[in-house]
Amino acid sequence: MTEVNNTATYVVENRIAWVKFNRPEKRNCMSPRLNQRMMEVLDELEYRDDVGVLILTGEGTAWSAGMDLKEYFRETEAKGLGAVRQAQRESYGWWRRLRWYNKPTIAMVNGWCFGGGYGPLFACDLAFAAEEAQFGLSEINWGILPGGGATKVAVELLSMRDAMYHALMGENIDGKKAAEWKLVNEAVPLERLKDRVTEVANVLLKKNPVALKATKDAVRRVGEMTYDNAEDYLVRAQEAANSFDNDGRKEGIKQFIDDKTYKPGLGSYDVAASPG
Ligand code: COA
Repeated sequence: MTEVNNTATYVVENRIAWVKFNRPEKRNCMSPRLNQRMMEVLDELEYRDDVGVLILTGEGTAWSAGMDLKEYFRETEAKGLGAVRQAQRESYGWWRRLRWYNKPTIAMVNGWCFGGGYGPLFACDLAFAAEEAQFGLSEINWGILPGGGATKVAVELLSMRDAMYHALMGENIDGKKAAEWKLVNEAVPLERLKDRVTEVANVLLKKNPVALKATKDAVRRVGEMTYDNAEDYLVRAQEAANSFDNDGRKEGIKQFIDDKTYKPGLGSYDVAASPG
């Protein structure tokens, strides 16, 4: 009988899927087994009607201590190039899946976040950290470059000087510094982290879900486009969104212009009035 793989777990509560890295005794470092389970978890949750937001956090003292040096590196390398490539496909695969997830996603960084952990960190649309959390590109400390996208994440999110210092020095920064550097949106004391993230998730749950998906993709896509290409992409992305949700946008206009029940500049229309 094969052993149950619970290296990642989830519960769904009030339309929020709380997904956890679940290898606390190994500081939630990512083994091939964990990467396989994460992909399954993402599959299981992505199109569930009772899930509006996904939050990724860690069990115990870590968010994720990065790639598993033993199971992801040493043991797969011992099996040869095919095994290495497979392990890469599995980890990069679920991070990519998360980057383009159908639901908005939030990283809730409760503790250690190292190296390969920057992949899922970046994959989440928003990120909130405990002030006490520790972030590091520790690769240089054990003799490799920050691979698996980690260098790209640093350069995407940080200034060139901060990215270079972070990658070369192998020093950790805490959650407060991570917020200052814009690696995460915000840092709050650990004891308030879950409440703050729940508050943010509840705001997202009140928005039009088709618009959320179109918006999150647009923010990621336009970064590498010229202005004209972005303009064109955004027209087409909105037109494509209309074909999935014709009524939401019209309802949003109606509640403002005709019903005068809300002002878009001050809050969201009542999505429940027109589920689309
Ligand atoms: N790969 C493999 N095993 C890891 C690991 C990793 N990335 N991170 C932690 N572990 C294991 C430890 O080997 C230890 O295993 P053991 O109980 O069988 O001895 C267990 O998890 C607990 O780790 P420990 O170092 O005792 O915990 P700590 O709370 O004192 O320290 C860290 C936490 C995160 C600072 C430390 O574990 C660490 O430096 N991990 C490596 C981080 C890293 O460089 N990741 C980058 C990978 S790309």
